[in-house]
Amino acid sequence: MDNFTFYSPTYFVFGKNTEDQTGACVKRFGGHKVLIHYGGGSVVRSGLLDRVKKSLEKENIPYVELGGVKANPRSGMVYKGIELARKEKVDFILPVGGGSVIDSAKAIAFGVLYDGDFWDFYDEARPVTEALPVGVVLTLAATGSEGSTDAVITKEEGMYKRCVDGDILRPLFAIMNPQLTTTLPPYQTASGISDIMAHCMERYFTHSKEVETTDRLLEAVMLTMVKEAKRVMAEPDNYEARANIMWCGTIAHNNMTGVGRIQDWGTHHMENELSSTYGCSHGAGLAILFPSWMKYVMNLDINRFAQFAVRVWGCQMNFEDPSVTAREGIEAYQNFIHMLELPTSISEIGGKEDDIPALAQSMFHNAPNHGNFLKLTEDIAKEIYRMAL
Ligand code: NZQ
Ligand code: ZN
Repeated sequence: MDNFTFYSPTYFVFGKNTEDQTGACVKRFGGHKVLIHYGGGSVVRSGLLDRVKKSLEKENIPYVELGGVKANPRSGMVYKGIELARKEKVDFILPVGGGSVIDSAKAIAFGVLYDGDFWDFYDEARPVTEALPVGVVLTLAATGSEGSTDAVITKEEGMYKRCVDGDILRPLFAIMNPQLTTTLPPYQTASGISDIMAHCMERYFTHSKEVETTDRLLEAVMLTMVKEAKRVMAEPDNYEARANIMWCGTIAHNNMTGVGRIQDWGTHHMENELSSTYGCSHGAGLAILFPSWMKYVMNLDINRFAQFAVRVWGCQMNFEDPSVTAREGIEAYQNFIHMLELPTSISEIGGKEDDIPALAQSMFHNAPNHGNFLKLTEDIAKEIYRMAL
């Protein structure tokens, strides 16, 4: 196990009707004036936004609001948010929504305190060390942004989708009511499940040795997801399934399951190009790419892939030829994606062979390093995109 530090200060408020505690949480974490940030209207239609506002009013906390964040959030909205937050002198950012809204809020939170262009942090892969406090009301189990260090934004000029991180970007609190996720369309529920699995797999496929604790934690999350994904797709209103998936989403990406090991993340970086180019959900892009990445890299450590097959998918170990087991594991994962009814090829989301050089080029624009299990080059990325075509 490698040396590590782990700082995860988020206060989680989990369960039914917990959004009524939003005002109390803002107060507890020192907010005096709040910017409420939200997306394209789901929180208006569900009545959640009104409940959140009431909860702030109950604590006499003034607020301004900014809605309209698009899925795969854009830089233009971040600039708007920074301007509004400065003008209104807010001291707390409160996203109410999924990962896109939370990431837009995080970018506003650090952009407000920075004199230059917030995008400098993305261009220079500079860690963020100063930001206004962020507290979250989560409506979608997927990205883990409610507990993560990351904020993923797409720069409209060039459509570069990039990530920054910093411990300061971990939300101070996260309100997580699984009931709120029952209004999600099946495609978004499924995309979230795919993302949670991917966050586990990006950590699971490692060359680090003696990482049994985190291996077993990752397997626990993936086994739970395999069980609960089936249940939630068949019964979207099943509270217990929604609750387990929601908590899996958080622990899959607040890095408790990833400390002390080298993680990969090549597939995530390749995915950024799919969601920014074709507008698919992040989880759908990952579902398309992961099987191809796995097939491309599995011979680098066939036993790790066989272990994944046996422990997560219940495959029988073939001791004479572990590559048979490894392939069965990848097939089991592909069947899981089919069950979720997510796309399985780039052509299904509108991509063509001719697009591939531009996808790979954009991925490496100003960002030379991708992947650790296998370090990706532009040519390797092209090959994996082709396999997923
Ligand atoms: O905009 P509204 O109207 O709210 O609709 C949203 C959106 O259209 C809808 N939705 C959310 N909650 C709902 C709901 N509809 C009905 N009922 C609800 N309860 O779902 C759609 C997708 O929302 P979005 O926030 O885009 O999804 P997700 O949570 O999957 O976030 C994806 C973004 O997060 C990034 C992704 O790249 C992508 O940009 N990621 C962020 C990470 C992080 N910060 O740690 C890590 C991830 O790996 C990921 O890269
Ligand atoms: Zn992800």
